[in-house]
Amino acid sequence: GRLVVLVSGSGTNLQALLDASADPAYGARVVAVGADREGIEGLARATRAQVPTFVEKLGDHPTRADWDAAVAARIAAYEPDLVVSAGFMKILGAPTLQAFPVLNTHPALLPSFPGAHGVRDALAHGVKVTGCTVMLADEGIDTGPIVAQEAVPVLPDDDEAVLHERIKTVERRLLVEIVGRMAREGWTVSGRTVRIGNQSG
Ligand code: GRF
Repeated sequence: GRLVVLVSGSGTNLQALLDASADPAYGARVVAVGADREGIEGLARATRAQVPTFVEKLGDHPTRADWDAAVAARIAAYEPDLVVSAGFMKILGAPTLQAFPVLNTHPALLPSFPGAHGVRDALAHGVKVTGCTVMLADEGIDTGPIVAQEAVPVLPDDDEAVLHERIKTVERRLLVEIVGRMAREGWTVSGRTVRIGNQSG
């Protein structure tokens, strides 16, 4: 399957997908990488892998709706089977969400600690277990139907960076597994339940 991956930062989740797709049996390949800002490591990773990139900055557009439409059009040019939002720090608008399935990954066990600071919030709350969530994006913030989750322990001396890296080690593996299975086996959504594989017909 054809993947468009959206990034805003270091792009280590993207890198995991690039590495996995080197195996033709994986069943998915990254056909383009999109970002909301220039000069991030995620874009450099795509370029090193000779994957086309695009950038759509919110500030370059007169309205949010204009940006939403521009993002959807850039993605559509690559005809993806699945869009993966991996550390993309913008809410995707209806034009994208209505045109493509979007998989999102979040470094907390939703519905706990949604939003841009899930790791910091979990740490501040004093939880002993946190984790990561892979879900289908909807129009809300981290509210879409959950596809997979995995727990990660919080250790006494953790700070945000240490805990986030422990989570990301699990998150990258979970995302690679789920994207590959969805690409190879397909999936169905009924309500808040996402079922991968055993498609009839
Ligand atoms: C990931 O933990 C993602 O869930 C969160 O930000 C991080 C992005 O990491 N939104 P990277 O850019 O893939 O390295």
